[in-house]
Amino acid sequence: MSNWLVHGGAVLEGTVSVQGSKNAALPILAATLLVEEPVTLLNCPAIRDAENMLGILKSLGCSVKREADAVTVDSSTASGFVLPTALSGELRSSIFLLGSVLARFHEADAPYPGGCEIGNRPIDLHLWGLKRLNAQIEERGGRICCKGGNLSGAVVDLEYPSVGATENIMLAACRAAGETTICNAACEPEIVDLQQFLCACGFRVHGAGTPTVVIEGVERGHGTVFRVMPDRIVTGTYLAGAAVTGGDVTVTGTQPELIETLLGKLSECGCAVTRNADSVRVRAPKRLRGVGFTGTRPYPGFPTDLQPQLFAALSTAEGTSVIAENVFESRFRHAQELRKMGAKNRILDRTAIITGVKKLHGAFVTAHDLRGGAALVLAGLAAEGDTTIQHTERIERGYERMDSVIGALGGTVIRKENGIDEEEKTR
Ligand code: EPU
Repeated sequence: MSNWLVHGGAVLEGTVSVQGSKNAALPILAATLLVEEPVTLLNCPAIRDAENMLGILKSLGCSVKREADAVTVDSSTASGFVLPTALSGELRSSIFLLGSVLARFHEADAPYPGGCEIGNRPIDLHLWGLKRLNAQIEERGGRICCKGGNLSGAVVDLEYPSVGATENIMLAACRAAGETTICNAACEPEIVDLQQFLCACGFRVHGAGTPTVVIEGVERGHGTVFRVMPDRIVTGTYLAGAAVTGGDVTVTGTQPELIETLLGKLSECGCAVTRNADSVRVRAPKRLRGVGFTGTRPYPGFPTDLQPQLFAALSTAEGTSVIAENVFESRFRHAQELRKMGAKNRILDRTAIITGVKKLHGAFVTAHDLRGGAALVLAGLAAEGDTTIQHTERIERGYERMDSVIGALGGTVIRKENGIDEEEKTR
């Protein structure tokens, strides 16, 4: 377990460039198994989830090399189809490997991912989609055993536009015989990035970014060099940081059009937003105004992954704001932590009612999940006094050197590895 000490009273100001996208990099790393030649990913974020995914690829026999943000995976030597239990347990998205392992080895054996901090996260749609492609799946002793000697294209009509299920089915279908059509596919930009990667490897995929994705199976792909898209959620997090601290932050190397919903909310809060082709600046007023209602939805709706950060910002905004979390059933655990910092909020099932207070105060809080943890960092920066956040390893699953990035913007986050002293715990 690691902890961070966040100094309150910061005003984030300056310019930072954004890391590569976690949610694009993870399925693309899984997809490297589909080709038996080296693949180099540029802008591959150095975050725990990506390192764990690389660890799993190594355990399957791939050779992996990282030089700064360039990661090369050579899966020509891979032979394993059994995903390691401990590492896969660390990384929920290890489930995305089912599709590519099955396509490559005609067999896959993966641990069943357990419950999680933001909801149950079942994988029924993943398994249903793979079965539609003719995979035989048995769930035995907490493991998922798949056989797919004759994967063949099919129409897969998803009941819900699940991001992971769409990606898993795309991966399995790349080398299946014939054509696969995914209807009601998720439209997230990361799926477009996955399609671009797959096409760069010689696979035939089109339609990503719309609800219909078509994959024409080919026998094999080839190696490539590919640049992972910028992380829209990390971009949004630092811009929300400007909003909550009354600051002025520019994020470069990003795609502002992918976070229009957040930028719209920040404007409603009274921030001045300036968009350029690949950068975006947010200048905050002294005190934010609350926004009536925000409901999370699949893309192009307001992203669930930015809900906690907006929640933190609205906690000090003038007036009452309402947020409905429609994607994950329990993604409000940051609400109780923010209350420890003086925030006023009430949770009624999937809806949060937030009454902004003038100032938060430092407290001892817990990061229950990645984005909720990031929201606590933002709140801690804006608060009066210091905040200690425990379980910050959860934040490091998706944020590259968050302490340095915040340092570059004038804030202070100090890492305190291994444990908390009792005095702090009682604060
Ligand atoms: N769902 C099912 N059955 C399934 C799959 C999903 O009922 O088989 C439900 C989930 O329980 C959830 C909803 O569908 O209620 C949405 O889940 P989805 O499958 O779309 O999400 P995911 O693929 O598990 C990805 C991101 C998440 C992000 C969501 C939604 C990755 C690695 N993860 O998860 O990212 O919140 O899409 O946009 O791409 C994060 O980065 O913090 C994060 C959690």
